[in-house]
Amino acid sequence: MCGIVGYVGQQNVVDVVMGGLRRLEYRGYDSAGVAVVAGDEVLVRRRAGKLANLEKLLADKPLPAATFGMGHTRWATHGAPNDRNAHPHLDEAAKVAVVHNGIIENFAALRSHLEDNGVTLASDTDTEVVSHLLAEQFDGDLAEAMRAVCRKLEGAFTLVAVHADQPDVVVGARRNSPLVVGRGDGENFLGSDVSAFIAHTRHAVELGQDQVVELRADRVDVTTFDGQPAEVREYEVDWDASAAEKGGYDYFMLKEIYEQPKAVADTLLGRIDDEGLLQLDEMRLSDEDLRDVDKIVIIGCGTAFHSGLIAKYSIEHWTRIPVEVEVASEFRYRDPILGRRTLVIAISQSGETMDTLMAIRHAREQGSRVLAICNVNGSTIPRESDAVVYTYAGPEIAVASTKAFLTQIIAVHLVALYLAQVRGMKWSDEIARHVDDLAAMPEAVDRVLDTVGPVRALARELVDARAVLFLGRHVGFPVALEGALKLKELAYMHAEGFPAGELKHGPIALIEEGLPVVVVVPPLSRKVLHDKIVSNIQEIRARGARTIVIAEEGDDTVAPYADTLIPVPAVPTLLQPVVAIVPLQVFACELASAKGYDVDQPRNLAKSVTVE
Ligand code: M6R
Repeated sequence: MCGIVGYVGQQNVVDVVMGGLRRLEYRGYDSAGVAVVAGDEVLVRRRAGKLANLEKLLADKPLPAATFGMGHTRWATHGAPNDRNAHPHLDEAAKVAVVHNGIIENFAALRSHLEDNGVTLASDTDTEVVSHLLAEQFDGDLAEAMRAVCRKLEGAFTLVAVHADQPDVVVGARRNSPLVVGRGDGENFLGSDVSAFIAHTRHAVELGQDQVVELRADRVDVTTFDGQPAEVREYEVDWDASAAEKGGYDYFMLKEIYEQPKAVADTLLGRIDDEGLLQLDEMRLSDEDLRDVDKIVIIGCGTAFHSGLIAKYSIEHWTRIPVEVEVASEFRYRDPILGRRTLVIAISQSGETMDTLMAIRHAREQGSRVLAICNVNGSTIPRESDAVVYTYAGPEIAVASTKAFLTQIIAVHLVALYLAQVRGMKWSDEIARHVDDLAAMPEAVDRVLDTVGPVRALARELVDARAVLFLGRHVGFPVALEGALKLKELAYMHAEGFPAGELKHGPIALIEEGLPVVVVVPPLSRKVLHDKIVSNIQEIRARGARTIVIAEEGDDTVAPYADTLIPVPAVPTLLQPVVAIVPLQVFACELASAKGYDVDQPRNLAKSVTVE
């Protein structure tokens, strides 16, 4: 949830850290702070609110030039989002400073221990105990102190610390929370993700679970919490700094919406080999394992859960394997029936969502195999899974997910086809035909983007609406859920998605004069479903709803009942979500902007939810 940057090298640390925090602000924006070491003192500047407040503070009260230190941008868990609780946190002697992402679950006991020893804590955070514990343990070696402290901590944490008495060393630690090393030339970096240092280096080092890293300008040492040297994986980041810039758009979200054709194309790249067979990225499951699967369970949160709902349709249709889809946060608490023949598919843009990670661990403990669909190379979820299909959406900075959703839909269809291929359910020419359908998607999305002008106008017209309902059937239902989620998180409006058939079982009571209702109409080729939803549109219109209808081009049957008709290209039913969601993304973005809200950083949210 929080964003962390650490640096040691030749440049002025404040410049490097502030640059990194700007790129990480999407992870949390309740407060921000930096710490540098100058002489024998740790100096801290921190301020509640967005990074701009810290920038102003630094302009009024500059820090001296220094070459090592760290920064933090916060999504509050323990303690209100005020100056006092902003990171970095210091010990009483102001020798050690700490920033943290995660939750230290046993902080109350640790706090009592410190208070019993006469320590006065200055904040309400769980983090502050770590600075005092580090001070207590420090004997000239901060990494050693960090290892000792980590062994006492429970919960999820990324920690970064500096000590005034150990110059030119920055120490980090991680358990269940992300931290990546960036290797430079005569300088090294730490970041919650690679965007923290992508402006300086693309050479990254993935840290494992329960590891401590000691960073100097010319070396990086990684050990376990027990002090054993640890193996790490080095890799090159395959995108550059410009990918994490707004590139002339008003918002990252808008830029990311317009990047969708490319993101989809990139996710499809190189999937068919010379023999016409489908290939996935890291398939550490044998064909025999996959032929043995008798049930699939898909888990994810938010938007990723919605892609999972779409996956159920394609996997069951193409492979006839029964599929369950579940919100990851609920999964392990209901004692799900899992076994060796269950394949769990975990979908996550960030690869760090704690609810999903915990669900994966539970599934593996029960003997199930896990296939991850993920956008971030080197993140925890793919690392802890048996197989990975990467989405190649590039960095998604806006809190509201857009291009990740489209690429997840492509990836789940690829997985469905792969399973069908391995299990002999489809011949290679059939698979090739479906892959051709997928390959036509970038152009179809481009066409939607060329025609969204009226959707923007509609959003501005509806700026004062109190609520919006979304209806869909079949794969249109997850689109309805996703459209509603976008509106909730960006425009802070009451928005609900329903399966259209459920309408008369309750939700129709919500319909009143002028209520905007978005309806996603199945393709004409699905005649029975199509006709049923046309009846639903008439039912709500008769009760005063303002109907906003998304239907395929050339579908004239819906026009008489649509107050606003949004045509999208005709595509195969299972791919309709790819084109139908785009106008709804634009709608939510425009409505939030019309209300004057922060499109990229909606209130109370953070991009990666790394706490349960
Ligand atoms: O990184 P993940 O895909 O695991 O994130 C899951 C959700 O937190 C995420 O999709 C969230 O719902 C988005 N803000 C929705 O726009």
